[in-house]
Amino acid sequence: MKQLIVGNWKMNLNRGDIKELVKAIVLHENADVVVCPAFPYLDYAKHRIGTEEIKIGAQDCHEEASGAFTGDVSAQMLVDVGCSYVIVGHSERRQQHQESNYQVLQKAQAALAHSLVPIICIGESDEDNRAGKTEEVLAQQIADSIPRGSFELVVAYEPIWAIGTGRTPTTQDIKRVHKFIRAELAKKSPLSKSIPILYGGSVNDKNAASILSLENVNGVLVGGASLKAESFNQIIQAAVS
Ligand code: PGA
Repeated sequence: MKQLIVGNWKMNLNRGDIKELVKAIVLHENADVVVCPAFPYLDYAKHRIGTEEIKIGAQDCHEEASGAFTGDVSAQMLVDVGCSYVIVGHSERRQQHQESNYQVLQKAQAALAHSLVPIICIGESDEDNRAGKTEEVLAQQIADSIPRGSFELVVAYEPIWAIGTGRTPTTQDIKRVHKFIRAELAKKSPLSKSIPILYGGSVNDKNAASILSLENVNGVLVGGASLKAESFNQIIQAAVS
């Protein structure tokens, strides 16, 4: 499978920035590229990109298809404006919006019901990491927030303490944790071997090649370094077959 390079723009970039950035993205034969703009810019980004080779993802969706949910956006709406992916359960949503594993599961199911590929984020806190509870936390998140069955979905391992901090786990730790996630996924899906497992958290143009070369790392979820074409392109070029 090609490696999946996902840019999570979070609450950044305006129309002018997006126009410049998407024009400058350089694709690579080993990489499938997805960018995730903020909601108001999904349609704009889709049209500016103008190629089916770069896919669009959203950063969240509501679990219901429609209704009285002020400020929310449904999976159905995301498909309508041309999204192929949606990030669910990002730690910033889990922490700042108190999203539970169960809610993340429901969002992932809503995405799947509308043929959107959910990128389901899991990851331990600094405290849990220091206490040696990484595997325990991840096992619970996988058990409770990933749908059971033969679905096309993506899992992103993002240690919370590595997001936006410039700190990353050692490559040995990433390898160990991804192997563990792969084994846990086997309990949920007959397709577990083909579920892409992304690493996320302070991925940049310097560390991308060593992370992407690790076994069971099928791509990366990139925040800060996806906002500039120079760094994002170097990450895309680091994809391996
Ligand atoms: P970062 O963010 O690359 O800026 O650490 C990653 C993410 O939150 O998805």
